[in-house]
Amino acid sequence: MLSHALTGLLTCLALPLGLALTERSRTAYWTELVAPLYSSEANNKVLATAQSSSNPSQWPEYTDQPTRLYLLHERFSTLCPNDGDTTDWLSLARTWSNGLYNPSQDVLASWAHDVGFNSVPMMHELRHNPANETAKNAVLANAQYLASRYLSVVGCTKSWDRGKGDFEVRHMQIIDNMMNLQLLLTAADLSGNSTYRDMATSHANKTMQNHIRPDGSSYHVVNYDPTNQLLPQTRHAQLYRRTR
Ligand SMILES: *[C@@H]1O[C@H](CO)[C@@H](O)[C@H](O)[C@H]1NC(C)=O
Ligand SMILES: *[C@@H]1O[C@H](CO)[C@@H](O)[C@H](O)[C@H]1NC(C)=O
Ligand SMILES: *[C@@H]1O[C@H](CO)[C@@H](O)[C@H](O)[C@H]1NC(C)=O
Repeated sequence: MLSHALTGLLTCLALPLGLALTERSRTAYWTELVAPLYSSEANNKVLATAQSSSNPSQWPEYTDQPTRLYLLHERFSTLCPNDGDTTDWLSLARTWSNGLYNPSQDVLASWAHDVGFNSVPMMHELRHNPANETAKNAVLANAQYLASRYLSVVGCTKSWDRGKGDFEVRHMQIIDNMMNLQLLLTAADLSGNSTYRDMATSHANKTMQNHIRPDGSSYHVVNYDPTNQLLPQTRHAQLYRRTR
């Protein structure tokens, strides 16, 4: 009896306390974590960085900055036009992505599997103006380059070339390549060429089969030989969990 009474008492005390804590942490989540992301202080930091250089040159490291600028433009021009923000985020976004247009073949080859990250600003430009030919041509050129890295026997786009002649030797496949699929899908929509969509789907299929561990985490890099056999050496350079 005593223990029932005690349980009852504890439940009466603990339940509202627990609910109150949940409510409190929900409020804290909003005020401490989410709200600051939308504050003018956060925007000022982005603005100060945007104004600190007009010629950013490191890709893909800086690709998130034009993306942020495009998103702020969308927020204040379309989503929250009454917020009274008068910064010309669009011009800043374009200035910051300018260096990504018309890369030479050497530059393009140096981007390799990062070509998808580097195409994100163009896809934002197309969200702003779907008729923008400059952005459209850039997306299609980048997708064409990415398609040239597709090895049909494996069914994936190749991440790196390790020296001359390596393309057919060892097919190294980094999980980051999943970030490239939107480039292929956008190119399929823009051009009507379904090869891009097939490549993206095949790449995703193959990644699901061999890149994902049973516990849902992923290998960093998976290697295939030219006959599509999975090679045992699987690298985990940037992963928390290094063992298979
Ligand atoms: C198209 O996009 C480019 C690159 O961001 C930009 O410089 C240009 O002003 C845009 N043109 C139009 C007509 O929107
Ligand atoms: C579709 O895209 C692929 C990959 O870039 C290319 O090889 C093929 O020639 C294109 N097809 C057409 C009809 O343009
Ligand atoms: C991808 O996998 C799905 C489901 O297994 C299959 O229906 C589809 O044909 C595959 N597509 C490609 C391009 O490999």
